[in-house]
Amino acid sequence: MTTARGLEGVVATTSSVSSIIDDTLTYAGYNIDDLAENASFEEVIYLLWHRKLPTQAELDELKQQLSDSYDLPQEVINHFKMYPIDKVHPMAALRTAVSLIGLYDEEADVMNEEANYRKAIRLQAKIPALVTAFARIRKGEDPIAPRKDFGLAENFLYMLSGKEPEAVEIEAFDKALVLHADHELNASTFTARVCVATLSDVYSGVTAAISALKGPLHGGANEQVMKMLTDIGSVDNVEPYILNKLNNKEKIMGFGHRVYRQGDPRAKHLKEMSRKLTELTGEKQWYEMSTQIEELVTSQKKLPPNVDFYSASVYHSLGIEHDLFTPIFAVSRVSGWLAHILEQYANNRLIRPRAEYTGPGMQEYVPIGERK
Ligand SMILES: CC(C)(COP(=O)(O)OP(=O)(O)OC[C@H]1O[C@@H](n2cnc3c(N)ncnc32)[C@H](O)[C@@H]1OP(=O)(O)O)[C@@H](O)C(=O)NCCC(=O)NCCS
Repeated sequence: MTTARGLEGVVATTSSVSSIIDDTLTYAGYNIDDLAENASFEEVIYLLWHRKLPTQAELDELKQQLSDSYDLPQEVINHFKMYPIDKVHPMAALRTAVSLIGLYDEEADVMNEEANYRKAIRLQAKIPALVTAFARIRKGEDPIAPRKDFGLAENFLYMLSGKEPEAVEIEAFDKALVLHADHELNASTFTARVCVATLSDVYSGVTAAISALKGPLHGGANEQVMKMLTDIGSVDNVEPYILNKLNNKEKIMGFGHRVYRQGDPRAKHLKEMSRKLTELTGEKQWYEMSTQIEELVTSQKKLPPNVDFYSASVYHSLGIEHDLFTPIFAVSRVSGWLAHILEQYANNRLIRPRAEYTGPGMQEYVPIGERK
């Protein structure tokens, strides 16, 4: 047996959901660049779940199903109201809430294909409702009911602020959701697959995935990028701040990737969105600081930015609170998790690797009174 730390280079499953080959990311055979320019997030959800783009009738049906499923059990709203609101991170709230809504789904443990698909629709619709409800409740505001005539991106922004978003905001947010939807066997998707490969239920798989996404080496990086930009404060401070971090061998959040070598193909789209949006808001400093950081980290460490780097200034420009950045990643990535969960059920085998033992050699049991 050979040990691959972090499972680097290990191919752990087959999958037809998405692929990364030669730094090109595709969802079911469609290049992410093409989808980012042309597809809506709902089309991408359908693509990931069915491996084909929907016809207009299929898309309308999916939108209707999602729109019928946004409602949250009152018990979950009441639960949010009990939290020590100033201490709870929205990702922790989301992790708990997804587990909790499973308790109110009578089909939670029904394990046939149709029931699992119905749960996928419910989770895809309820996660944006959970994130926005929690974001409002912690400010003492009531959750806002979704609009039946809005798509998912538009509804998210509406349920968050209570205002009808501008077309430019909807377009940017929808594109961000498309870009984050799936990413082959990333850490949270792998977590979901390991969980459901024991034939545990869909809610358990998504709860486990949210737990993995929360970490700063994965989805938690986007919030950390914004923290770094805020700490730096101005373009003049970029160089000393970044060089100091690099000299101290600290990681720069939003850079590096396990799989990509030349660069993350999603980053260029988010970079352009960041440029446009910061120009619109009149806060160009976030984009300017970001490009300076990119230049420095690329020249010093040869590390290109990943999906989390420019998404930080994009979400900030949309007026979104910084600790909601990672929950927004979940709003999108749940589509990929669900595609992988359904794929795992369809061709399941328990995922159970081995560990190379590095502990003490064989010991003899010593009764407690004789131990030193
Ligand atoms: C994404 C990530 C976890 C991949 O990790 P990995 O494949 O295990 O790579 P490692 O952490 O082993 O890094 C390899 C080398 O590059 C360096 N490196 C990797 N990412 C770095 C970063 N963001 N800043 C500075 N150095 C970095 C490591 O320090 C290490 O250097 P060393 O060999 O001199 O010790 C890693 O690049 C990282 O922590 N990035 C920052 C967090 C982030 O943006 N996560 C979102 C990913 S989409």
